[in-house]
Amino acid sequence: MKKVFITRDIPSIGIDLLKKKGFDVSVYKKDQPISKIELVKSVKNCDALISLLSDKIDKEIIDLMDRCKVIANYAVGFNNIDIEYAKSKGIIVTNTPDVLTDSTADLTIVLVLSCARKISESEKLVRDKKFVGWKPKLLLGMELRNKYFGILGAGRIGTEVAKRAHSFGCKIIYYSNSKNDFLETVLKAKKMSLNSILKKSDIISLHLPLNKKSKNLLSKEKLALLKPSSIFINTARGEIVDESYLIKMLKQNKIASAGFDVYQNEPNLNKEFYELKNVVLLPHIGSATMEARNNMSLLVAKNVIAILSGKQAITPV
Ligand code: DGY
Repeated sequence: MKKVFITRDIPSIGIDLLKKKGFDVSVYKKDQPISKIELVKSVKNCDALISLLSDKIDKEIIDLMDRCKVIANYAVGFNNIDIEYAKSKGIIVTNTPDVLTDSTADLTIVLVLSCARKISESEKLVRDKKFVGWKPKLLLGMELRNKYFGILGAGRIGTEVAKRAHSFGCKIIYYSNSKNDFLETVLKAKKMSLNSILKKSDIISLHLPLNKKSKNLLSKEKLALLKPSSIFINTARGEIVDESYLIKMLKQNKIASAGFDVYQNEPNLNKEFYELKNVVLLPHIGSATMEARNNMSLLVAKNVIAILSGKQAITPV
């Protein structure tokens, strides 16, 4: 019986499918990231590993995976895995694209609207029992119509965010390695250089994968190009941005506000985040819908089944 090890309890639909197909599935049951010691113990005898974005699958771990044929990451991002090394050892790495695109795009818009309409501050005011009546100048925000919406990374999620932003009347501009025909023809979007998009955007939203090229792409110098009235959104990865500098800009009102679903050092956030009023802070829930998480569970299972049955991976990275 081929063994599949899952580093966390994921929705049962994928686990059930693996069991139905005759695999011996074991799941790390504690509701916390698996420790390195446990991971080392568990990966030794598995034919397939289903990992999370919080599991560091580096050379040391891969070297222990003598029998393993596939690492199926339960995420679209795969920056937690040394994929080159895995490939050199003949291990196929897969991820979960497409199935979480809509959920992540929806959440991006939640953050945009929350920042534009000061939702966190507004809700806090009511909960703190400080709502003393309608006021002409209470918590004035910004409309989205006619604002420049800058998308960094025009892949699946970036494109879906652009569609949603366009329906709010935003003018779409984007930064990407390649031309996105859909954005240009249907949404009349314009491709721009990184510097130009940072200078022009009223809202800037990150949708790049984290890799060597994108790490710290938004350095101090780049962030300094943002308009003081701009809104910054990150649902991609914290390491793409110089987070400390962004916090400094938010403190000094060098940008209007920011919405974060991801951070540099999750879950240990820079303490200064908690002091800021002009931010919305979410706990990495981009793909956290029943639909997306069930489909992610099914997709990791189907990738494992395909590879362990000698077939092509469905979504190799
Ligand atoms: C991913 O899949 O990479 C997301 O960050 C998970 O929500």
